[in-house]
Amino acid sequence: MKPFTSAPGFVLSDPKNRMFLWSFLIVISLVCGAYLAGNAFTTKEYKQRLARWGLIYKMPLVKSHACKRQCWPSGSDALPEGVVAKTSNLEMRPLWDSGKNNISSKHPLSLLAIAVGVKQKEIVNKIVEKFPSSDFVVMLFHYDGFVDGWKNLAWSNRAIHVSAINQTKWWFAKRFLHPDIVAEYNYIFLWDEDLLVENFDPKRYLSIVKEEGLEISQPALDPNKSEVHHPLTVHRAGSKVHRRYYKLKGSGRCDDHSIAPPCIGWVEMMAPVFSRKSWQCVWHLIQV
Ligand SMILES: *[C@@H]1O[C@H](CO)[C@@H](O)[C@H](O)[C@H]1NC(C)=O
Ligand SMILES: *[C@@H]1O[C@H](CO)[C@@H](O)[C@H](O)[C@H]1NC(C)=O
Ligand SMILES: *[C@@H]1O[C@H](CO)[C@@H](O)[C@H](O)[C@H]1NC(C)=O
Repeated sequence: MKPFTSAPGFVLSDPKNRMFLWSFLIVISLVCGAYLAGNAFTTKEYKQRLARWGLIYKMPLVKSHACKRQCWPSGSDALPEGVVAKTSNLEMRPLWDSGKNNISSKHPLSLLAIAVGVKQKEIVNKIVEKFPSSDFVVMLFHYDGFVDGWKNLAWSNRAIHVSAINQTKWWFAKRFLHPDIVAEYNYIFLWDEDLLVENFDPKRYLSIVKEEGLEISQPALDPNKSEVHHPLTVHRAGSKVHRRYYKLKGSGRCDDHSIAPPCIGWVEMMAPVFSRKSWQCVWHLIQV
């Protein structure tokens, strides 16, 4: 039997980038903290922060009938009921869509979105080939503008290509992965392009994520092949999933009482996997 297969070896990118991502993570753990045991701030600080960001609002006590209309997307309020579609998806349609294809009969999909440059084509090809087309929609964000360089790959025509020079993964995600557009996808893999996936099986990974009820997660790193920056992220032989790590000696200890990063409560931003529900929250937090 193979050890836990969701333990790809990773080659990490620029460490400076890592540091930025690290602080971003903590923000996520604050606001989308449903799956987390705790965070570094007191409740009071937390509320002040939320208030500053305008994230606290009072829910109406009674769901009045009026809300039904008020909550329609702006600009759609003049339209009759039944016409407004709140969500869409990334499915491609033939130019002359006869409407015969039944969208509702499909089984639920997930989305793999990667920011790519043509220099990493080989690695990205290996990643995409691991994600079966029956279960995953693939989206490439081209930050170098070389879209044509990908045409010869077998899956290129079924992938969605978005191109904008020198933009980050988060810039693309904010603009092209609005929660109403990706509402149909169970999970969103928002990955960097330099991840090695020999030992990674996306379906197996998602089955564990579902079983454990994880809203935001990442695959573990192969300690023998990856440049590891944070011990929490390292794969542990014989374990399927872990939520904390222990350091019982020296400075920066992590034990069962730890309630904050780096001991617990975060994932790295190079290979996060978001549930539909958490993406709704995270998308609003992206400030780029
Ligand atoms: C499309 O879906 C509707 C209801 O969901 C069903 O009645 C109809 O038979 C389906 N048509 C095709 C071509 O599958
Ligand atoms: C994109 O970034 C590269 C490297 O930093 C730079 O050489 C290039 O001029 C940038 N292109 C644009 C269009 O900003
Ligand atoms: C890493 O290498 C050690 C020593 O070669 C080996 O015992 C261990 O199983 C390896 N771990 C993984 C995750 O491959």
